[in-house]
Amino acid sequence: MSTQGFAKCELELLVNGMRRHVTIRSADTLLRVLREQLGLTGAKAGCENGDCGACTVIVNKEPIKSCLMLAVEAHGCKVTTIEGLSDTPIQQAFIDKFAFQCGFCTPGFIMVCQALIEQRPHASEAVVQEWLRSNICRCTCYQEIREAVRSVIGHE
Ligand code: FES
Ligand code: FES
Repeated sequence: MSTQGFAKCELELLVNGMRRHVTIRSADTLLRVLREQLGLTGAKAGCENGDCGACTVIVNKEPIKSCLMLAVEAHGCKVTTIEGLSDTPIQQAFIDKFAFQCGFCTPGFIMVCQALIEQRPHASEAVVQEWLRSNICRCTCYQEIREAVRSVIGHE
């Protein structure tokens, strides 16, 4: 990573399998860079305060609220956004179990579920509930989302 002047940085990210180079301000969040510089608008700016999870992406296998991560912290990292998922079991499960909600919260829910499945493919019900706490929808009860995750994982 090279720094030009006080506030501009050049960084390299591996986004959805593609090497990307961007020039950013040092205070830019990963969410802003993904949306405004790379055109990846699947991660949503909900609260931009770390509360809602609408901005969730996967950084080096960890679900990350991208509104809370400085883009410079992601230099050299592997970043997966909702646009990087294709025909995954959890996407199909969301369709099959009617877990889709609004366009704001659904990408974040799918990304946290994907990270859970990758990290804990046999997670218990308690673990699923714990992970889903990171994301908020005030419109429904999460039952269909839990069923979608359950249909993909085997329990520990
Ligand atoms: S927009 Fe990042 S947690 Fe709400
Ligand atoms: S926030 Fe998306 S359906 Fe409630």
